[in-house]
Parts: sequence; C-alpha cells; structure tokens
Amino acid sequence: MEGRRLLIKNAKALVGTHAAGVERVAGAAMRELPQVEQGWLMAENGIITAMGNDADWPGITDWNGLEVIDATDRYVLPGWCDPHTHTVFAASREGEFVDRINGLGYQEIAAKGGGILNSAAKLRAMSEEELYTQARARVEELMRQGTVAVEIKSGYGLTTDSELKMLRVAKRLKEELPLQVRTTLLAAHAIPPEYKADRNGYMDLIVQEIMPRVAEEGLAQYVDCFCETNYFTVAEMERLLEAGAEHGLLGKVHVNQFTSIGGIQAAVAKGALSVDHLEIMEDADIQALTGTAVIPTLLPSCSFFLGIPYGPARRLIEAGLPVALATDFNPGTTPSGNMNFVVALGCIKLRMLPEEAINAATLNAAAAMGLQNELGSITVGKRASFIITKAVPSLAYLPYAFGQDHIDTVIIDGRTVRTGEATD
Ligand code: NIG
Ligand code: FE
Repeated sequence: MEGRRLLIKNAKALVGTHAAGVERVAGAAMRELPQVEQGWLMAENGIITAMGNDADWPGITDWNGLEVIDATDRYVLPGWCDPHTHTVFAASREGEFVDRINGLGYQEIAAKGGGILNSAAKLRAMSEEELYTQARARVEELMRQGTVAVEIKSGYGLTTDSELKMLRVAKRLKEELPLQVRTTLLAAHAIPPEYKADRNGYMDLIVQEIMPRVAEEGLAQYVDCFCETNYFTVAEMERLLEAGAEHGLLGKVHVNQFTSIGGIQAAVAKGALSVDHLEIMEDADIQALTGTAVIPTLLPSCSFFLGIPYGPARRLIEAGLPVALATDFNPGTTPSGNMNFVVALGCIKLRMLPEEAINAATLNAAAAMGLQNELGSITVGKRASFIITKAVPSLAYLPYAFGQDHIDTVIIDGRTVRTGEATD
C-alpha cells in the first residue's frame, strides 16, 4: 500500500470542500456547500493530502506510480454516507407490497404476522454464510451508487443467536469491503412471538444478555429502538438507552414514524446521537431538538414507498437543526439503498435546496454515524472517498434529473471501486 497516490485534475468543481473542523452544518448554514472550481486534488495512501484550483496547481515532478483521473466537465463530490439502513436481511417482501396496493396498511400487515416478524422468521432460518453472501451483493451495489459509508442495524433476529449472527455479518462486511461500516444493535425492533405474553422478559433478554454480548464482542457502536405505538414504549427505549450508555453504545433511534409519543424528548434527554424517521412531528418535538446535539435524520424513500408523510425538513432547518438524510434500506418499508434517489427526494419532496440535500447526505450523514472527521467533505486529512459524476450541466441537475445514473466513477480510500466510461 505504501506510496499509493492519486491525482484528480480539471474537475468542473470539487464540491463540499468544508474547512477542517467543520463537523456538521445546521440551519441556514446548510445551504452553504463550498466548492472549488477547476479543481485538483491529491491523495496518498487513501487520504487527501492537497487540493486547490488551477491557479495554485503546484505541478508534479514525480509521476512514478501516480494514478491520474481527468475530471474535465465533471463534478467531484464527497461519497454518500448512509447513516440508517437494515441492509442485512434474509428475503424480500414484495408480497406485502402487493397487499398494500390492495389496501392494507403497514401496521395491519404487521398485525397479521407480516412485517418485521416475517423477516425475523426467515432470517433465523438462514445460515450466516448465505446471509453474508446476500448482504455483500447489496453493499457492492450501494458502493456502485456512490455510498462510501453505511450504518447497518440488527433487528431481524430477535434472539441472542440471530441478533449476533446479523451483527457478525455486518462486521465481516466491514472487514472485507472497502467502505466504512458502522453497526447498531436493534434487538428492540419488535417483540418476538415467543415473548408475546412477556414483553418485560424480552427487554430483560436484551439488556441482560444480548447487549452485554454485543458490547463484549465489539459487534456494535450504537443501540436503536423502534419507539412506536404497538412496538416499544418510551420507557422501554429509555431503559435501552441507559443500558447502552453503560456499554458505550450511543443511541440512534426510530421515533415518530407513525405517531408522536414523546420518543424525541426521551432520546434528547438520554443523549442520543440521532433521531431517525420523524414523519409525524409536532411543534413540541421540533422544540425538543433545538439547541441540542442530536441529529434529525430523515428517510424520504421510506415515505415514498409507504405513502406516509414526509419528514418536515424545512421546519427542522428553520429551527436551526443539522438535518441528515439516509435510505432506511430494508425489505419492508424501503427496498432501495440508493442515496442518489434519496437526495432527489430531499429536493423534490422535502423541498431542500440541492446544496442542503447534498450536505445532508454527506457531512451531516457522516456526523450521524460518528465519521465527520473522516468523511462527508473534500478536506485535506479526510479519506479520499468520492463520487465523480458524468458530464452534467450543473449540480442542481443531479437531483433534478432524478432516476438517472449520473455517476461515472466511485473512489473509496483512494481506490477506484467503479470505473465509468469517461475514465476507461
Ligand atoms: O425503519 N420502522 C421500523 N423498522 C423499519 C422497517 C422494518 C420492516 O418493515 O422490516 C423502518 O422502516
Ligand atoms: Fe429503519
């Protein structure tokens, strides 16, 4: 690996060139997406070492072993960070998708034994190797779509063995693939059938057995809870966040997807890193977030797929908050892990400006998984993980011409993981 060097030159612009030390952008600052036009950058051993524009190009004396990419007419963006996914799962659920077209609701399907419990039954029966093979193919596709860091949750096991199995699969993805992977224990995703009459017993199992094992084996950095009517109560989430704190697991929680029941206030009080979903937000919920360090993470492709309300991005930004975007990739509510589509929906449905949506999917998304000092912007000292676009007329064209593939090249830690036509 020694001496591996990369030069990207002639970029139409380097995008998201936030200064070192800017760890997130909030409120009105979200529309500030710094750019260097006619840009170049150098990376060594996967880290950005120098950058600038044509006027301060220092020239190269030693071309030995230097990989050069000419980005004429093309933008260089920080790779997408996706801070909320359920990418390890056993099977697709298009049967429920058809049920919903026929008029059933998400919660009605869950009540019939579909939903999360359907996924759990299939995952329990699947070998770790098969689960890994399937998840790996999904993550390889995410990298082709420009994702350079991904958070992956457990939550389809709902037993000690199967929750650990999911997290071991995620850990192996982290070890064997070049992108950054962060993992989250979401044993509190649904009450498993065997604990239907004993929810406290399941809570005890999580706190007394699953979480200590996960922490001991270093299988997760975060703890999550589906805090929602008919799933887990605010008091149960509080118990999990307290237990997580004892094991060094920060909270990243599902709240306000279908109902507003006080989950945000509790997550703030317990020092969660992020509160995710937020489709149903009362003014008091937004007020509870203002002035805190908690990152509101919106998942517009979940709203798109389920036909539920979109998170109130504008109200959150007006309240001075650092909105992040994520896919929520999972077989039930968002069978897509495509961050390009999420950024487009951020603009089309959440009414975010392109600059705001890109900041939300890069720097703020990195912050929502603790990677703000490594990823999320094109900054000297950060990882050389980028998207190079095809030739496009403007940055706004990316979300505007939604559903088209605007990516030419993806680079992770200075290595090309997708080579497009323009660089062949
Ligand atoms: O984030 N809301 C909870 N969990 C997932 C969906 C889980 C499923 O339906 O499989 C979500 O939307
Ligand atoms: Fe989710």
